[in-house]
Amino acid sequence: MEAIKYQNPDKEGYYGQFGGAFVPEMLYPNVEELQDQYLDIINSEEFQKEFRYLLKDYVGRATPLYFAKNLSEKYNTQIYLKREDLNHTGAHKINNALGQVLLAKKLGKKRIIAETGAGQHGVATATACALLGLECIVYMGEVDIARQEPNVGRMKLLGATVIPATSGSKTLKDAVNEALRDWINNATTTHYIIGSVVGPHPFPDLVARLQSVISEEIKWQLKEKIGRENPDYVIACVGGGSNAAGAFYHFADEKEVKLIAAEAGGFGLESGKSAATTFLGTLGVLHGSKSIVMQTKDGQVIEPHSISAGLDYPGIGPFHANLFTEKRAQYFSITDDEALESAFELSKIEGIIPALETAHALSVFTKKKFNENDVVVVCLSGRGDKDLDTYLQHI
Ligand SMILES: Cc1ncc(COP(=O)(O)O)c(C=O)c1O
Repeated sequence: MEAIKYQNPDKEGYYGQFGGAFVPEMLYPNVEELQDQYLDIINSEEFQKEFRYLLKDYVGRATPLYFAKNLSEKYNTQIYLKREDLNHTGAHKINNALGQVLLAKKLGKKRIIAETGAGQHGVATATACALLGLECIVYMGEVDIARQEPNVGRMKLLGATVIPATSGSKTLKDAVNEALRDWINNATTTHYIIGSVVGPHPFPDLVARLQSVISEEIKWQLKEKIGRENPDYVIACVGGGSNAAGAFYHFADEKEVKLIAAEAGGFGLESGKSAATTFLGTLGVLHGSKSIVMQTKDGQVIEPHSISAGLDYPGIGPFHANLFTEKRAQYFSITDDEALESAFELSKIEGIIPALETAHALSVFTKKKFNENDVVVVCLSGRGDKDLDTYLQHI
């Protein structure tokens, strides 16, 4: 077997040239505390026992790996959907939120803050805090509060305080800025649960490890179904990149498995209204790590656009920046309209309404031809209930 190359960062949190921890001095003690302790805590028997128990009995894992017969016939290949949409709270985000709330408790923190775009990470964090008895504050862009209203209601019902981010494009990156500001002001009492594989080291690795349960399950489920652990392809959508990191994790160093990521092209790459970071970005530092960032020549972040709140982000996690640069994974840009078409198609032919974010991953079938015998696993990262208004406006 080849050496581990892509799965985890080095000690300083670098995946190749990407990663690290670029944080203000006042945050350093917090980040350092996490760096020193995260691996010991999450690998401990006690943590794993509690985490695995909650994933099974509270979240409902293992999620099914469903052979999508109708979709497979349509695209003349063998398509399996990893049903993260069937998790409690409706997306993969709960895997990370539960793990990080458990970690925060072990670190003696009493207060949790989070940012959210689509609201799924906010709902997941509010849920984990309700279950495990911690105060929860969620920052969310004003634009996202309007377009993901059902999730805002859910967070409130779960006892969380939702604070609007009113700067910039009033979307995900602005919510991250507000959350980081809060963390600086409340560094000793508070744990910041970042919702994707972004942020300063150790967050990208921490979140990838907590989400890696997705590819861990795909392996034994495929073995059960087709007699081999490895598919030919794994496809996932990428905002910051956590569902993709979870779905790729145990395959990243297995060369025969090809990895495909779908980014939000918005109105199109040339339109000035896009969030396709690998196509439009350059090397830069955003939210505490060195990665690929959509920015002007002077290093000002360019406002992103995507119809899907969860992909509306001008950066990408360092894990993905490395896979992209090393050509280990192939990245596609999917427009708003293409994603809508794919969401409608899956709803009609499989009876599954996917999240708008997830629909970007499904659009890859319209861009790339697979062989008849290829086994293609798609991470169905979330369900579309939260996007119903948008779907009905466009149907
Ligand atoms: C259902 C769903 N899929 C994907 C994403 C994108 O996030 P990530 O790239 O971290 O998986 C989100 C973000 O909110 C989401 O809600």
